[in-house]
Amino acid sequence: MAYKAKKHYQDTDVSSVYDRVRFRGPGGALVNWLDQRLLMSAVAGIRQGGRILDLPVGTGRMARRLTAEGYQVIGADVSEPMLRLAQQLAAETGENAPLLRGDAEELPFADKTFDGAVCFRLMPHLPAETREKILREMGRVGRRVIAVYQPHRASLWWLWNGLIMRRKMPLHFASPEELEREFERSGLRLVRSHAMLRWIFMQRAYVLEPISGDQGTAG
Ligand SMILES: C[S@@+](CC[C@H](N)C(=O)[O-])C[C@H]1O[C@@H](n2cnc3c(N)ncnc32)[C@H](O)[C@@H]1O
Repeated sequence: MAYKAKKHYQDTDVSSVYDRVRFRGPGGALVNWLDQRLLMSAVAGIRQGGRILDLPVGTGRMARRLTAEGYQVIGADVSEPMLRLAQQLAAETGENAPLLRGDAEELPFADKTFDGAVCFRLMPHLPAETREKILREMGRVGRRVIAVYQPHRASLWWLWNGLIMRRKMPLHFASPEELEREFERSGLRLVRSHAMLRWIFMQRAYVLEPISGDQGTAG
């Protein structure tokens, strides 16, 4: 299915500034730190040294952190330019993970290849139908699924960017009730969730597990 985030990051003008615009400077470094703190809370419970799919890997922020923590990581992304940057940055830091070009809607992995599959900063860009398709794929290839959503707008971030600055943001919000139904339709059950920073940011990581013997009910 076509949606903006699938094409957007294939543009080198976009990929080349991705890290600098979002994660550099004092504010950006704080956001990156909070994202990684969220990641580490969410992967707790996945066995040490386990196999994790980072989807989409982007420029490799999460893959590098997970590799440094001793997990065996594979990163996948649909954007060649983002993957090239991930490769360069991994070579610089020595935290190398295999990377491959692939579409999250149709993953080239066998069932239960991974102990966990993590998805940061993609779901809010997708319509519900595509989110469910990707969740089902993650639940097929992974024993545990970690997906970050923005379940409501009640945050200082939204007050500033959405209401005061009136920035146009192509974000899809899904309420906790909608998410509950979305997970169920995708064949997943909620284990727990973690807020990135309550009342300040909207992001929340959902830790999910496939409902035994079920890969989802929607077609
Ligand atoms: C906002 S970036 C997030 C990257 C990374 N997870 C992070 O947190 O920095 C979104 C990424 O999703 C990728 N993407 C969009 N649609 C995709 C799809 N269907 N399959 C795989 N990657 C996709 C884009 O190429 C881009 O690299």
